[in-house]
Amino acid sequence: MGFVDMHSHILPGLDDGSKNMEQSLAMLRIAEEEGIRVIIATPHNMPGKGCPTREKLEEKLKELREAAEKEDISIEIFLGTEYYYREEVSQIFDREEAVTMADSDCVLMEFNPLEEKSYIYNAVREAYSSGYTPIIAHVERYEQLMKKPEYVKNLKDMGAFVQVNASSVIGDNGFHTKRDVKKLLKAGYVDFVSTDAHSDRNRAPRMAKCAAYLNKKYGEAYANKLLYKNAEKYLL
Ligand SMILES: [Fe+2]
Repeated sequence: MGFVDMHSHILPGLDDGSKNMEQSLAMLRIAEEEGIRVIIATPHNMPGKGCPTREKLEEKLKELREAAEKEDISIEIFLGTEYYYREEVSQIFDREEAVTMADSDCVLMEFNPLEEKSYIYNAVREAYSSGYTPIIAHVERYEQLMKKPEYVKNLKDMGAFVQVNASSVIGDNGFHTKRDVKKLLKAGYVDFVSTDAHSDRNRAPRMAKCAAYLNKKYGEAYANKLLYKNAEKYLL
């Protein structure tokens, strides 16, 4: 048991997530209290927020793992990246040089919240044809996709996985977002629920309240898939 948080900006000093090692450790302590057992660190690859090299990512991962061990924190941490999709990323995928999720074949992708759905569909097809399985990060953010649950179904039919943020499930991002996410959960279109944590404060790695909610509303079997089983099956 224990949750797998597969979307987290916990690596220090790379993007708009954790500012330094102290904050990363504070985030890990919260995660542990929340019942999280595994974290996939997914720093942004996005102009303006950060585009760290693989070497830099691996160096930061090593530093965080060592610091966590010293503090007796037993959470396992793996590497990923959240790619803001653009021409440059399409080329990275073409060259098969993507930093995938914990060395699986899956890549985490995000878009402009106002992006046209045809652009998102094309990006999914491109990632897929490069040999990757795309995961759409916080799908609830994309206005065009939220117009109909079928639009998300289309993504799944193209071979993509779908992630939503734990905060959106429990209504922390507003009533409309909660309602949109509910439709997707009811239809069974969600594969992963993760924190997308950015700090130990406002956007902390909170999972427990969401997990209790999912168990109550959707039953243990589906909740477990969303909270760790799918991650174990497809990413770890
Ligand atoms: Fe993120």
